[in-house]
Amino acid sequence: MLRLLGLCFFLASSYAAQSTPRAIQVQSRSAHAVTRRRALKPVTLPLDDYFLGTDLQWIGNISVGTPPQTMLVVFDTGSSTLEFSSTMCGEACSNQVQFDPTKSSTFVEGNFTSVLTFATSTGVVPVIGNNAQITSRNATDTVSIGGLTIESTEVFLIINRTEPFFADPFSGILGLDAQANGVFSALIDQGLPSLFSFFLTPQAEGNAELTIGGIDHTKFDGKSSLTAERATFDSGTSNVLFPTDEAIYALISPDIVPHASENGAYGIACDRIPTLPAEITVQFTAQDGSAFNLTIPSIELSVGPFEDDPETCQTLINAFDGLNVVGGSLLKHYYSVWDVGGQRMGFAAV
Ligand SMILES: *[C@@H]1O[C@H](CO)[C@@H](O)[C@H](O)[C@H]1NC(C)=O
Ligand SMILES: *[C@@H]1O[C@H](CO)[C@@H](O)[C@H](O)[C@H]1NC(C)=O
Ligand SMILES: *[C@@H]1O[C@H](CO)[C@@H](O)[C@H](O)[C@H]1NC(C)=O
Ligand SMILES: *[C@@H]1O[C@H](CO)[C@@H](O)[C@H](O)[C@H]1NC(C)=O
Ligand SMILES: *[C@@H]1O[C@H](CO)[C@@H](O)[C@H](O)[C@H]1NC(C)=O
Repeated sequence: MLRLLGLCFFLASSYAAQSTPRAIQVQSRSAHAVTRRRALKPVTLPLDDYFLGTDLQWIGNISVGTPPQTMLVVFDTGSSTLEFSSTMCGEACSNQVQFDPTKSSTFVEGNFTSVLTFATSTGVVPVIGNNAQITSRNATDTVSIGGLTIESTEVFLIINRTEPFFADPFSGILGLDAQANGVFSALIDQGLPSLFSFFLTPQAEGNAELTIGGIDHTKFDGKSSLTAERATFDSGTSNVLFPTDEAIYALISPDIVPHASENGAYGIACDRIPTLPAEITVQFTAQDGSAFNLTIPSIELSVGPFEDDPETCQTLINAFDGLNVVGGSLLKHYYSVWDVGGQRMGFAAV
């Protein structure tokens, strides 16, 4: 079960092409800023785990419109916009809760249609390069997350999408990328500290959460290490991607080999899984130049047999040249702090 969502390479997004990264406002300490705005307190949202053979994504509720309509979304650090199914979407969104713009008094339609292309798939099926597309129309409306409200913020109403998205048990995606766009940027403008933290637990443990604007210190123990973002850490991706030339698979086990029928996917004979090392350590360089390790238990490695080759199990580490993406399979073993204002990340063992 592999799902790559919201990687930082929107291929055909007319919207993304227009959006320019904006400067991030770090909390100002000047008296002027203090009188100008009241600081917002962090909020913590419970997250459910979308589990399909493996922990795919973590999802939580936001509300949109007046009166509020509840939308379940993926909080995705690999993308920047907020899009969700709407009643304009018909069949292609029939499994999802759909936002009905005619029932919101604060809704303003935009009439600007864009197509976002994602790398995504569900199940052990082709992963990279399949064109999963969302067609959406822009609008503005009120959005609330855990009681924090942003008025008249840009949203994208999904009006059509391709088959890879049909099975999603959630309505949309809320982008929380490192440039602080959209909803998160509006909250920062209102005085919310420019960081958020994920506690992405495996489904069996439950109690996953997102704290926007702060850190939930009750969720970990010990000191966290900080690193400059050299890889792309992506909460919306279930797996870990490294360039082919790093030959990470060969380092783990010579039994892990490219899967012929799927570009970028790797597999191992299912009966060899017990021979794998107990854990995989990925070494990162922290901002001060020191090395630190993040470790994935090797149970994360297998996501089940390939459909076209049941003797071979797909591994959760994929090859993708030009991009390092570290997704949920690593993130769920740490409490992660995404300090957007400081452009750094923190990890704490849980
Ligand atoms: C989202 O809201 C629905 C009710 O609208 C509720 O059943 C569900 O448990 C909520 N999920 C989360 C993760 O809060
Ligand atoms: C959007 O299109 C509809 C129908 O074509 C039109 O009535 C409406 O005024 C347009 N809205 C905007 C904001 O351009
Ligand atoms: C929709 O997008 C167009 C083009 O970028 C923009 O001019 C318009 O203001 C947007 N409308 C809303 C309601 O956000
Ligand atoms: C949705 O997109 C599909 C192609 O992916 C197309 O066949 C279909 O006609 C579209 N539906 C609408 C309502 O535009
Ligand atoms: C990281 O892991 C490697 C291999 O297990 C080990 O040799 C190294 O000492 C570790 N580094 C740190 C900073 O813990």
